[in-house]
Amino acid sequence: MDLDTFITGLPKAELHLHIEGSLEPELMFALARRNKLTLPFKSVEDVRAAYNFSNLQDFLDIYYAGAQVLRTAEDFHDLTFAYFTRAAADGVLHAEIFFDPQTHTDRGIPFAVAAEGILSGMQAAQAQLGVTSRLILCFLRHLDEDAAFATFRMAEPWLDRITGVGLDSSERGNPPGKFARVFAAAGAAGLKRVAHAGEEGPAAYVWEALDVLHIDRLDHGNHALDDEALVQRLAATQMTLTVCPLSNTRLHVVPDMQVHPIDTMLAKGLRATINSDDPAYFGGYIGENFKAAALGRQLSRAQLVELARNSFLGAFLDDATRQDYLRRLDAYAQPG
Ligand code: ADE
Ligand code: ZN
Repeated sequence: MDLDTFITGLPKAELHLHIEGSLEPELMFALARRNKLTLPFKSVEDVRAAYNFSNLQDFLDIYYAGAQVLRTAEDFHDLTFAYFTRAAADGVLHAEIFFDPQTHTDRGIPFAVAAEGILSGMQAAQAQLGVTSRLILCFLRHLDEDAAFATFRMAEPWLDRITGVGLDSSERGNPPGKFARVFAAAGAAGLKRVAHAGEEGPAAYVWEALDVLHIDRLDHGNHALDDEALVQRLAATQMTLTVCPLSNTRLHVVPDMQVHPIDTMLAKGLRATINSDDPAYFGGYIGENFKAAALGRQLSRAQLVELARNSFLGAFLDDATRQDYLRRLDAYAQPG
């Protein structure tokens, strides 16, 4: 079996995916037409040509603009189902997806519209594609903590269908500690806690995410490698890192795939995983991320299996489902 076929068939979980970041230009145009909106682009090719980012903020400006075509629950449903169709084709058995409610409520779209549309897309994906999933509500860190609290209160009727809270958007200048109280409230409500940290921000933000936000999983975490004591802490506690190779190179967090630290992370005993972040913007879904990292770093099949195993170990799954997925991975890795 060639490497691409091996990667596509490898049973895996996706743990870092912004559903708004899976909005393909074709769907963007279709939704603009359906909602009678005019896009500032002439064609799908024009949109793709604009995806040439020099840093995180550059990307975020375009990503928030793109999300404006999402108006109805049907739009969110279609976006979500389209993502799961791609994920299923890439061997994803389970996905834990982020959404950014403030991106929608701040332009007058009710929380219910986004949440119900996404949740119905997830339900359809489980019924029709057999992919299980969880939903994580992200707070936008460039906004203040009062706005995050207002969003958390809006989410109350849905908390039985929301697994956790996360923290995303512009990292530099917006340290995790800014959201200490709302993360404490989410923890008290029984939710899991994750945060983007150490993507563009320093290792100090990763320490803060651990010690102040009490995260259960670390999103990105690249800059943790700058601090050996932090690496030891992450390895000793088997903290899961949701690493996103194509995002890292497109946003210049890593200069080139040939120097991506994914294998260094494994060698240091970190529970690293491979994910797609915003696949419509960064040039590929989870399979493409595995392939790009495998090619750039000459990863062995054993390393690819380890990355997939880490994804199931780091997922917010019940024990029986986790064991079932791990057995499916073992059967694939050691046939017969
Ligand atoms: N929102 C969507 N993708 C993001 C990323 N890679 N970092 C921070 N916020 C994001
Ligand atoms: Zn992200």
